[in-house]
Amino acid sequence: MVGGSVPVFDEIILSTALMNQVISFDTMAGILVCQAGCILEQLNQYVEERDFIMPLDLGAKGSCHIGGNVATNAGGLRFLRYGSLHGTVLGLEVVLADGLVLDCLTSLRKDNTGYDLKQLFIGSEGTLGVITAVSILCPRKPKAVNLAFLGCPGFAEVLKTFSTCKGMLGEILSAYEFMDNKCMQLVENHLRLSNPVKENPFYVLIETSGSNAGHDEEKLTNFLEQVMSSGLVTDGTVATDNTKIKMLWALRERITEALSRDGYVYKYDISLPMEKLYDIVLDIRSRLGQSAKSVVGYGHLGDGNLHLNVTANSYSSSLLKAIEPYVYEWTARHHGSISAEHGLGFKKKDFIGYSKTQEAILLMQQIKGTLDPKGILNPYKTLPSSSS
Ligand code: FAD
Ligand code: MLT
Ligand code: ZN
Repeated sequence: MVGGSVPVFDEIILSTALMNQVISFDTMAGILVCQAGCILEQLNQYVEERDFIMPLDLGAKGSCHIGGNVATNAGGLRFLRYGSLHGTVLGLEVVLADGLVLDCLTSLRKDNTGYDLKQLFIGSEGTLGVITAVSILCPRKPKAVNLAFLGCPGFAEVLKTFSTCKGMLGEILSAYEFMDNKCMQLVENHLRLSNPVKENPFYVLIETSGSNAGHDEEKLTNFLEQVMSSGLVTDGTVATDNTKIKMLWALRERITEALSRDGYVYKYDISLPMEKLYDIVLDIRSRLGQSAKSVVGYGHLGDGNLHLNVTANSYSSSLLKAIEPYVYEWTARHHGSISAEHGLGFKKKDFIGYSKTQEAILLMQQIKGTLDPKGILNPYKTLPSSSS
C-alpha cells in the first residue's frame, strides 16, 4: 500500500514465513501465542476450530502474516467492533537491532509495570525491531452472523443509515463498510462479480455478530424496515449462510484487486470527520477531470476511514502533482490523518508533517536513534529523510 516492505536501495530481505507455529492457545481466556510468520487466515481457522475468532480481518488475510499485521497496526474490517491491535495485542517478542531478544511476550490483560514497550513496535513498520512472536486476545466466535448489503441514494443517506444502525443494532454491530458505485463497476468489469442489488450511487455492508440468532434477526429486521421505509436505503439483500456472506464480502474486499486491474493506482488512506469523508472524492474527481481514469471512494466508514484511489492508464508525474500535496493539505485542513491504517512506508514518509507536529517527529527520530543507531532496520522507511 505504501511500499513499506519494498526494498529500494541496498536492503537485505528477511522472511519470517517459516516461523509459522502456534505456541499456545488458552481456551478459557482466548489468548493465542504464535510465531510472527503465521498467516492470518490460518490463525483464524485455528482459533475458529476452538470457538474463537481473530480480532482482525482484512482482504489480504490469505497471505499476510500476523507479524506484518502488528508491524503495520493493520485496521481492517473488524476494527469497529474489536478495536485496534494496540488494545488486542497483549505481548510481543522482538529482536532488536543489536541482536538482543526483547521478551515482552506476556498474556496478561493488565500490567502497568513501567512503560508498555510492546506498543512502540505496534505500527512501527519494522523500523524499531523484528517481531518474532505475538500474544493476542481473541474474541469468542459469534453464534449468529448476519450480513446486509444495501444500496443508498446518496452519501448523506450512508451517514444517516450508519447513525440509525448504531442506535438500533448497537452491541451486535460488527462492521459498517461503504463503497461508491464506481467501485461496484470496477469489481463487475474487472472481476466479473455481480451486483446483488439495484444500481445505486453508494452501497453499504453491515455485519452483525451476536450470540442469539433470533434476537439478532429481529433487531436487523426492525432496522431494515426503518431504513427502507424512510428512504435511506432503496434496495438490499441479507445473508446468513456462509457462502452468500463470502460472496457479499468479496464485493468489498476485492476492490483493491479490481483497482489494480484498472491501471496504475494512486492510493490514499485517510481519516476524516465522517461528514467530510466523501467530499474529498468529489473534489479530487472534479479537479482531475479527464486526466484520471477512475476516482473512487470506499472504506471503513464506521471508523471514519476513507480509501481514496485514483487510477490512470499509466503513471504520470503531472497527475501525481495534481493530487499531491493537494490531498494532504485538504486532509490536514480538516484535521484528518494522511494515513489511517496503511502506515507511511516509503511513499508517504515525507508527508508525516501533515499529521504530526515537529516535536512529535523529533521524538520519533530520537527513539529510532536509540533503538537502531546504525539505521539497519527497514531503512529509508516511515520517518522523513533528514533533508525534508
Ligand atoms: P509485509 O507487507 O511483508 O510488511 C509490511 C510492513 O511490516 C513492512 O514495513 C515490513 O518491514 C514490516 N514487517 C513485516 N513483518 C514484520 C515483522 N515480523 N517484524 C517487524 N516488521 C515487520 N490494511 C489495513 O490496515 N486494513 C485493511 O483493510 C487492509 N486490507 C488490505 C487488503 C488487501 C487486498 C491488501 C493487499 C492489503 C490490505 N491491507 C490492509 C494492508 C495490510 O495491512 C498489510 O498488507 C498487512 O497487514 C501487512 O502484513 P504482511 O505480512 O503482508 O507484511
Ligand atoms: C481495504 O480496506 O480494502 C484496504 O485497506 C486496501 C485498500 O485500501 O485498497
Ligand atoms: Zn482498509
